[in-house]
Amino acid sequence: MVAKILDGKKLSAEIKTKVAAEIKRLEPQAGRPPGLAVVLVGGDPASAVYVRSKRRTCDDLGIYSPEFTYDIGISQDRLLRTVEELNKDPRVDGILVQSPLPEGLNEFEVTVTIDPDKDVDGFHPMNVGRLLVGKETFAACTPLGVQALLLRNGIEISGANVVILGRSNIVGKPLAAILMQKKAGANATVTVCHSRTKDLPDVTRTADILVAAIGSPEFVKADMVAEGAVVVDVGINRVEDASRKRGYRLVGDVEYEKVSEKASWISPVPGGVGPMTIAMLMQNTLLSYKRRNNLT
Ligand code: GUN
Repeated sequence: MVAKILDGKKLSAEIKTKVAAEIKRLEPQAGRPPGLAVVLVGGDPASAVYVRSKRRTCDDLGIYSPEFTYDIGISQDRLLRTVEELNKDPRVDGILVQSPLPEGLNEFEVTVTIDPDKDVDGFHPMNVGRLLVGKETFAACTPLGVQALLLRNGIEISGANVVILGRSNIVGKPLAAILMQKKAGANATVTVCHSRTKDLPDVTRTADILVAAIGSPEFVKADMVAEGAVVVDVGINRVEDASRKRGYRLVGDVEYEKVSEKASWISPVPGGVGPMTIAMLMQNTLLSYKRRNNLT
């Protein structure tokens, strides 16, 4: 079998076009564009790339996106003060503090300071809890992107055995919560496994849908995947590559070439889940804008 491609680049472009059209339609009623404030601390090059990409997308879609860039020495108090000011700013519908924060800063404290109604990342424990109990919420963008990529390619989630490899607060846990809900687009049987899982390949081979979010380059080999499985690769890893101008290339958590000979569908890296995360961030920002302006 040769896997079909879960094309996140194409789908994210369609979603962004829709969001842009919605913004155009709603802006006269709201009297202002949506706003997404982006906070970046420290010089991590990957984080800087993500933040630039998020802000560029905001520009393309007509979203106001003030950026707050701080060096690694910023105090916790100063950072919290920025978040509190953004909580009060009526032009701002969403607040995103790029993760991970440098060591020495308390990320949890920053997350809980964000107004849950502006938490378009879906990281605030209030929103995580609401997601788990099936209430209206903001859900995390990468898991939403994975779900959209499956649904929009006609892949049945209901009743499927979904195995999630990785238990992070940003991907693994919220994705499990989304896909296990008693709701349209969910109703999966979800298994979460991780670095301590016993006989891991035996578990991953039970997956109709396998989601790799473990953060380890090309960790998932062909013998860990059942024939015909759907494989979603959430990993974005930089590996050294002297033949590239930048000195590195990006690979996912899946050994793409070999696994794509066995899977029925596979998401590439780059061009799979990555662009979907940004599209979902834009969609969450639009959702917040609508809620805060009582727009439908
Ligand atoms: N770091 C990696 N993914 C994300 C994300 O979706 N949001 C934020 N704020 N930080 C991240």
